[in-house]
This record gives sequence, structure tokens and C-alpha cells, in this order.
Amino acid sequence: MALRKRLKAPRTPRPARRLPQALIVGVRKCGTRALLEMLYLHPMVQKASGEVHFFDRDENYALGLEWYRSKMPLSFKGQITIEKSPSYFVTPEVPERVRAMNSSVRLLLIVREPVTRAISDYTQLRSRATPSAPAVSLVGHPLPDAAKPFEHLALAPDGSINIAYRPIAISLYHAYFHRWLEVFPREQILVVNGDQLIEDPVPQLRRIEKFLGLEHKIGRKNFYFNETKGFYCLRNDTTDKCLRETKGRKHPRVDPAVVTKLRKFFVQHNQRFYDLIGEDLGWPE
Ligand code: A3P
Repeated sequence: MALRKRLKAPRTPRPARRLPQALIVGVRKCGTRALLEMLYLHPMVQKASGEVHFFDRDENYALGLEWYRSKMPLSFKGQITIEKSPSYFVTPEVPERVRAMNSSVRLLLIVREPVTRAISDYTQLRSRATPSAPAVSLVGHPLPDAAKPFEHLALAPDGSINIAYRPIAISLYHAYFHRWLEVFPREQILVVNGDQLIEDPVPQLRRIEKFLGLEHKIGRKNFYFNETKGFYCLRNDTTDKCLRETKGRKHPRVDPAVVTKLRKFFVQHNQRFYDLIGEDLGWPE
């Protein structure tokens, strides 16, 4: 009897909502959704379904960590919960707030060549503009920004680069990354190459698995190239899907002279970013 009392039946593991142990903090339009969905192919990863915007929106942050936890998926012990909100990267208060939650949280930052990212950002903003927005300016009614050609927004009337234009400003990665380094050691942040994630996701994911301390599980079997979409789609035992049509949009044609001008402008900024991350990402000049 006494023996029976001591030999308790093994407990069935119970799932619980846990605060994230890893965050995808940005950069918007660099493949943040693709990255999260790809990592979710791993059996030891759980993901928050939407962008929670806990650390960047004061009204959410004021609700506290229990509110944040309630937005997390159920997970088993040993699984890693990941949340992504791309605006974390550019919001000044966020690094300190993240540290206050968990100073050893793992951070993932996905980046793309900055001019392509800016055009992708423009494409998204334009697609969100009201469909009734006029395609041509009516007298006395200036065109809304989203209806203007990219070239008119990225360059000021005098031909200089318009760094006040948000899609350009967000591509100045070093301007935000340094804030993260003031709060977190470099080794705690993995910089993921978003252009390579598009070309060939597996090597990037292998690096991430290692960084997150996960066994290597995501491989070639999990991807197939969809010719119509022009991107890799994902599959495992329970999933077979491409990302939504808002991911992998066609970009409008941009005057090549403007692209060249922007690439030149970004050279020194990219170099400052490379210096901060300690790696040359080889973006075209
Ligand atoms: P475009 O739509 O401009 O091509 P985010 O999720 O951060 O908004 O990033 C969107 C970008 O993810 C897309 O930008 C696309 O290039 C990129 N992406 C990377 N891998 C992808 C995939 N497998 N399917 C679709 N889009 C992918």
C-alpha cells in the first residue's frame, strides 16, 4: 500500500501559455511572416498567431505581462514560443521593455537589401490605399502619398533622397539596430538574411535552429517551389501551404536610375549596419 502511494502515475504533460522565449522583432517587409511560418514547421516551436504589438503600443504594454501571456499559444514544456511584431525593431522603447520581460530572450532580426525593402514597403502602402483614390491629381486635390509613384516619394523635389519618407527611413537599419545593442549583447540577436531565405530557406533555418538550441528538424522535405507564386511553399505532416497573396506581391517598375541612386545612397548606411553586426551582407552598390 505504502509502495503504491509512493509510485505515482506519471503526470500527463499539460500545455500552458508561456511568455515568448524568442521574438522576431523586424524588419517589416523582409520576410517576417515567412520566417515565423517556416519556424513553426519545427515540432518544438509554437507561434502567436497575430502580431501582438505588446512592447510597441503603450495601450497594450499598460495591460501588463499577464495580458501578453494570454495572447500566447498553448505550449508544452521544452517548446519555444515565438511572437513577431515587426514594428518592435523601430520603436525606441521596445528593447528596454523586452529586457524587462526576459533579459535572456533570443532575438531574430530579418533584413533584406534596403532598396528592395523600401519598394516592397511602398507596394504594401499603395495596396492599402483606398481603391477610390484618384490615379491622377485633380486640380486643388493633391494625390495621396500612396497613389504617387515611388520615385516621387523616395526623392525630394531637388533630387536628394527623402529620408523622411517612411519606407526609406525604415531601411536605414543601423539607425535602429544600435539601440538594441545598447540593451542586448550581440550574441543574443541573430541577423537573418531575408534575400537568402527567399532563395533557399533551409540554410538560414539551420542557423536559426542552432541559435534557438533546437534539434535540426526543418529540411528540404518541408519546401517546394511554387512556380506560379514564385516563392517556396511550406509543408509538414499537418500543413501544406503557400503564404497569402499579400506576401510575394509584384513590385511596380521603378526607374532604374532611381534604384541606382538609392543604392549609392545606402552604401555608407549599409556599411554602418555591417559594422554593427560584424558581417558584410554583400548588398549591391
Ligand atoms: P514582397 O511581397 O514585397 O515580395 P513581411 O512578412 O515581413 O511583410 O515580408 C513580406 C515579404 O516576405 C515579401 O515581400 C516576400 O518577398 C518575402 N517572402 C520571403 N519568403 C517568402 C515566401 N516563401 N512566400 C512569400 N513571401 C516570402
